[in-house]
Amino acid sequence: MSGPLLVLVGPMGVGKSTVGRLLAERLGVGYRDTDDDIVAAQGREISDIFVADGEPAFRAMEKQAVHAALAEHEGVLALGGGAVLDADTRALLAGHRIVYLSMDVEEAVRRTGLNVARPLLAVNPRKQWRELMEARRHLYEEVATAVVPTDGRTPDEVSRAALDAV
Ligand code: S3P
Repeated sequence: MSGPLLVLVGPMGVGKSTVGRLLAERLGVGYRDTDDDIVAAQGREISDIFVADGEPAFRAMEKQAVHAALAEHEGVLALGGGAVLDADTRALLAGHRIVYLSMDVEEAVRRTGLNVARPLLAVNPRKQWRELMEARRHLYEEVATAVVPTDGRTPDEVSRAALDAV
């Protein structure tokens, strides 16, 4: 199947962009990130889109961006943390090499903290992380062809583990 060599999924803050860039460099291919595609197409930050248009509108933009990137990009592709919420997107991911970068809730809270640029975590990050992961963990696992835990690992170690896993 043509399309990306490797797709990274997982929660925000897990290091998809950093690890994705390292992987692309190691594999000698390009790197693409659907969040960046949305920001470029919209000319505004994701947090601004959430505030002005609401989450459903963002999800529609995300779905379009993910589907376009899966069709066009042949390197390493990182998807926004919520892209797997969409059933059509999950179906489209079947047959691709999908690496789920995972982390536990405490690591997530440590890494993202109180970050207003991440609209889903603006209040009570620990509780919101727990709920987010309860709702999404099974979706990441459903689409993944490999799971790479990131807890206590550097981006370099994670990218090596991802290469070993695929
Ligand atoms: C989101 C994750 C973010 C971004 C948006 C929503 C989510 O992407 O798409 O803030 O629902 O988990 P990253 O995972 O790249 O941070």
